[in-house]
Amino acid sequence: MKGLLGTAAVALLAPAVLAPAVLAPAVLAPRAARAGAAPDRFSFPELTAAPDETIHVAEGHDAQVLIRWGDPVLPGAPAFDPAAQTPAAQALQFGYNNDFLGFIPLPGGAGNRGLLVVNHEYTNEELMFPGVGVQTAKGGFAGMTAALVDVEMAAHGGSVIEIQRENGRWQVVPQSPYARRITAETPMAFSGPAAGSPRLATSADPDGRTVKGMLNNCAGGITPWNTWLSCEENVNYYFSGTRDGLADAEALKRYGIPGNAFAWARYHPRFDLQKEPNEPNRFGWVVEIDPFDPASVPRKRTALGRFKHEGAANIVNGDGRLAVYMGDDQKMEHVYRFVTDGKVDPANPAASRDLLDAGTLAVAVFHPDGTGEWRPLTFGQGPLTPANGFRDQADVLVHARLAATHLGATRMDRPEDVEANPLTGKVYVMLTANDTRTELEVEPANPRPKNIFGHIVEISPAGGDHAAGGFTWEVLVRCGDPAAPGAGASFSPATTTFGWFGNPDNCAVDHQGRLWVATDGNSAGSTGRTDGIWAMETEGKGRGTARRFFSVPVGAEMCGPCFTADDTTFFVAVQHPGESEDGRVSTFDDPSTRWPDFTAGMPPRPAVVAITRKAGGPVGG
Ligand code: FEO
Ligand code: CA
Ligand code: CA
Ligand code: CA
Repeated sequence: MKGLLGTAAVALLAPAVLAPAVLAPAVLAPRAARAGAAPDRFSFPELTAAPDETIHVAEGHDAQVLIRWGDPVLPGAPAFDPAAQTPAAQALQFGYNNDFLGFIPLPGGAGNRGLLVVNHEYTNEELMFPGVGVQTAKGGFAGMTAALVDVEMAAHGGSVIEIQRENGRWQVVPQSPYARRITAETPMAFSGPAAGSPRLATSADPDGRTVKGMLNNCAGGITPWNTWLSCEENVNYYFSGTRDGLADAEALKRYGIPGNAFAWARYHPRFDLQKEPNEPNRFGWVVEIDPFDPASVPRKRTALGRFKHEGAANIVNGDGRLAVYMGDDQKMEHVYRFVTDGKVDPANPAASRDLLDAGTLAVAVFHPDGTGEWRPLTFGQGPLTPANGFRDQADVLVHARLAATHLGATRMDRPEDVEANPLTGKVYVMLTANDTRTELEVEPANPRPKNIFGHIVEISPAGGDHAAGGFTWEVLVRCGDPAAPGAGASFSPATTTFGWFGNPDNCAVDHQGRLWVATDGNSAGSTGRTDGIWAMETEGKGRGTARRFFSVPVGAEMCGPCFTADDTTFFVAVQHPGESEDGRVSTFDDPSTRWPDFTAGMPPRPAVVAITRKAGGPVGG
């Protein structure tokens, strides 16, 4: 399959993309020679495992399952029984499809005790429940019932768990006072400029100020004041009906609403577009949650705009303001940045409570000459006026995608994580893929047509200032097999045949300033490898060298990479193990893997894994 795909890629790529660098002899050098020039800052032996049903980590490391879908989170949670799932049980248990992970050390814990916050992005009904039949065009699997939908809604959202390390092993602390489950029904509030907008008003909430739940929470961020930013991504999937004849049909179309992928509207009218046309506007936000107070009301921070938020990695700028970098994960959508008006006060975290309600949201323009600029999404400036359909700042934020188009934002190849390296000030943009870009749409920042393997762009803010209007940028790597003629991939010559990857998605920068990339989209049939973690050299002569570190079971994607402050533990999230891929239909009754239990009758379970180094010290050498 891999060979066939390579051939197809050659045929589809135009000669124009065969940049000289791709054909340079160094890139085509024999594998042994390339393997000899290892990157300097990663010393672990490269992982060479073939795709299979389980996880693998580079030699010298341990990978331990910390918590799985269905494990207890709250007091009273019953033992997980896949044959007897109920909404009440699921609401007390760890949710499905763990994505973002954030670790916040607890005071006095010497780094051995902390809170792990976890997003539960979505649900795979075909793997969670037996006999749900086939996906229907109107939304959801044919066999979904009211009770199963409520299990799904309880499996969404997020979890807060307390964990501690004893004798080198991390464990969940039972009966923790911090433990919390957030679901698709948890009461939340809107804050910031769009709170109270008529666009957010529904029959359940005529004031447009409160909402039940958060949906499709993908990646996120931890703020300097130790709150959790949880990002709503593909929220269109949950809505059913038709946009035909609705007042906002143009905006609904741009946001892909209705997505008709889930059965929720059959039993919960708020997901029926014909009954509640504004309900979709209440999703697609960055949600701020205080993990130290399980009774706190999560707040949807509207100042950060509404789109398919991937993540919200952030950095304190030199002037004390917070810069939040955000990707809108859709083909041809954009990269955004939010800069607070106020400054972070490290001595007084409580003073930062509402810092994210006031600031400037801006969208990136990547000029072909390697410069770029951030253009503000500010009502009344430039084209963002009533003449173009924007009555106020709330309209600009609710329809951020439309505003970005008016501003001439660059259309990117699916922006996922966007993360700053605090040691260098450089910002990394993971662009996962875009198979629809045509040759006419190719431009330097998105340099390949039919980009099936994605690329990584590196941004250097002007003067190292994360609030500056300008920046320079370059492509760090074009992903895919650098040895495949015509693929147009551009890893460094030191990258081995195991070292290259496709489809960068999440990333993490460890405390030594090293970049680690998590992928979503690799498989035996696409790149000859499963998803996983690759270490990525960004500096010096090894720049552009990737090294394979961890791999997930078939069907899974890799999410949530997150280090403890001493880099001795690397938490990763294995999401949707056993999802159908490469033509293999995988179901509860016949899954492609039963990781991590490998027990008859137990389906595969998304789970968090803690990676440590056997000899101690920082993960990755
Ligand atoms: Fe949920 Fe963009 O990945
Ligand atoms: Ca995902
Ligand atoms: Ca992702
Ligand atoms: Ca993805």
